Amino acid sequence: MKFSTFYFSGTGNTRWAVETFNAIITAKGHQADLFSIDLGEKLTDERILEIVQEADCIGLGTPIYGGDLPPIMKGFIERLSKILEPVQTEKKAFVINTFGYVNAFGPKEMKKRLTGSGLALSAYVNIQLCNNVNTTAPVDVGMLNKRMTQGKEELTELADCLLAGKKQIKGRGPQTLIGAMIRKKTPEAVARHYQTLGVHSETCTRCMICVNNCPTGSIQFDEEEGFTFLPGCTACMRCYNFCPTGAITMGGVYADPDEVPRYQGPVE
Ligand SMILES: Cc1cc2nc3c(=O)[nH]c(=O)nc-3n(C[C@H](O)[C@H](O)[C@H](O)COP(=O)(O)O)c2cc1C
Ligand code: SF4
Ligand code: SF4
Repeated sequence: MKFSTFYFSGTGNTRWAVETFNAIITAKGHQADLFSIDLGEKLTDERILEIVQEADCIGLGTPIYGGDLPPIMKGFIERLSKILEPVQTEKKAFVINTFGYVNAFGPKEMKKRLTGSGLALSAYVNIQLCNNVNTTAPVDVGMLNKRMTQGKEELTELADCLLAGKKQIKGRGPQTLIGAMIRKKTPEAVARHYQTLGVHSETCTRCMICVNNCPTGSIQFDEEEGFTFLPGCTACMRCYNFCPTGAITMGGVYADPDEVPRYQGPVE
């Protein structure tokens, strides 16, 4: 069988999960491909259609933002629906979702968004790794390693289910009142995230890593204007976490990386 996965990963958790899944599938003698949906990857509509048509099963890899999907993934699913509409397909699909602390609404949101998209959700797995937003302490490596071990087991189970043609929707957590409130407020906070970002001019070396690596092309630099953050920002925290000097500010605050640790993905 051939599995092709489109994924978004702001800081590396979801990339780890989809790469781990692909390694499991390959070890079982099947084919597995990965496609990042970052703007910089320049996936054309024609290429997306070709990928879907050539695969037996399509994967979507995504983090969860406030019990919902990041705007970049929502946009990709809408685009996919338009691309698939004329060919009237109903391709089997699975979702690998990573999260930090609670994801009660993920499967519900994904099911809703995939309805009528040309993809039929047959498996969903929630992999708890660690939080990548508003982190004030270094990641607990012991905890993360345990979760990665657990994640590998869940991804193996997912692979076995898909290969056996079984349905498996896992990861419905308690849909609490607090969870519902977070979910209601997050889209607004995510949409306004770009307004909170800035650059600390004393520590910025103008290396342009943030500009070149932003998955939505939402950071512009101009000699006269300096840095501008645009509304297309998907609030992924990549610019903040990966600036070599920690010069990206949030809410106008410069956080010294020696004091406020950045999260740069799981290390095996
Ligand atoms: C804007 C934003 C909102 C988030 N909201 C949630 C959330 O509601 N629940 C949760 O468990 N994790 C939440 N997270 C944490 C991420 O889902 C988690 O760290 C994920 O594994 C990151 O994946 P990535 O490294 O592939 O980007 C949020 C992260 C961001 C950046
Ligand atoms: S990555 Fe950091 S140092 Fe490099 S241009 Fe962006 S803000 Fe400046
Ligand atoms: S501006 Fe920063 S937080 Fe927003 S999408 Fe780009 S890299 Fe992610």
